[in-house]
Amino acid sequence: MRLLEGKRAVVTGAGGGIGRAHARLLAAHGAAVVVNDVDAARAAAVVAEISAAGGSAVANGDSIASRAGAEALIAACVDAFGGIELLVNNAGNLRDRSFLKMSDEEFDAVWLVHVKGSFWCAQAAARQMQAQGRGGVIINTSSGSHFGNFGQTNYAAAKGAIASMTYTWAIELARFGIRVNAICPVAATQMTHGLMSAPDGKAPEQLWLPERNAPLVVYLASEEAANVSGQVFGVGGERLAHIVQPHYGKTLTHDGGWTVDAIRECFQREMLSEFGAFGIFGKPYPFHDGVHAPDEE
Ligand SMILES: NC(=O)c1ccc[n+]([C@@H]2O[C@H](COP(=O)([O-])OP(=O)(O)OC[C@H]3O[C@@H](n4cnc5c(N)ncnc54)[C@H](O)[C@@H]3O)[C@@H](O)[C@H]2O)c1
Repeated sequence: MRLLEGKRAVVTGAGGGIGRAHARLLAAHGAAVVVNDVDAARAAAVVAEISAAGGSAVANGDSIASRAGAEALIAACVDAFGGIELLVNNAGNLRDRSFLKMSDEEFDAVWLVHVKGSFWCAQAAARQMQAQGRGGVIINTSSGSHFGNFGQTNYAAAKGAIASMTYTWAIELARFGIRVNAICPVAATQMTHGLMSAPDGKAPEQLWLPERNAPLVVYLASEEAANVSGQVFGVGGERLAHIVQPHYGKTLTHDGGWTVDAIRECFQREMLSEFGAFGIFGKPYPFHDGVHAPDEE
């Protein structure tokens, strides 16, 4: 069954990897797709693939790393297809470096593409959707790295910001019939080359196919998902997960407000046992024995 007949979509960073798979499956479900990538030749190649399969697509080479580029991209969808119902913010980059060595340039390069790029594209798309008056869908791309991951201060911060923007936009845009969700995909792509492993001796490329992320995007884009907004999902391989959102956990009150002594007493008795795993690999809480300087050990 084709779920997206008549929808008009933009997928950023769709010249390869996960975005290419999104664009191809969206088109196979009847959407007309603007295939964006700063590598315009790769975007054009994906358009040729979609056209050969009988789908409707146009290529766009604007960089989403500027407000002007993002606005030109959304305008290109309106020019080509007359409007927009779906934006998939997918474009991304990496500049991994351990925290103590990370430079401003490495931090800013990742923040610009992921956070500002998603912000600019979503704002331009949502303004167009609001003007059209028939609602719409925005799907952002976060990552499990936003739980914390070694060497990814910039990327984890950016992907956490994208999750937080997702929650906020879902609240603000519901009144216009616009739903906003995010996925945390996994795939063997140029971005993760050499970084992936798979259980049971499988080759990573066999399990972590980029195409395995796209069905969730099609579903979230469809009207069947009308009751899904403000949610973040883990996807990839053979897995589909709902990512539990940050919320206040154990909450205590202290008459007249907390004093340092009351907090000292409460931490040992009530709070330490609450500390759970953090970081993308979900190990148990690692610091029950304390965090010590090297010369203390
Ligand atoms: N691969 C994974 O396991 C994984 C895991 C979690 C999240 N993600 C996220 O999924 C998304 C896609 O990643 P991928 O693995 O397919 O990587 P990829 O490198 O194959 O694709 C990213 C694409 O974005 C394009 N791009 C970069 N900057 C751009 C810009 N300014 N304007 C337009 N296009 C630009 C690149 O040219 C590239 O084609 C990214 O947001 C990434 O952070 C990937």
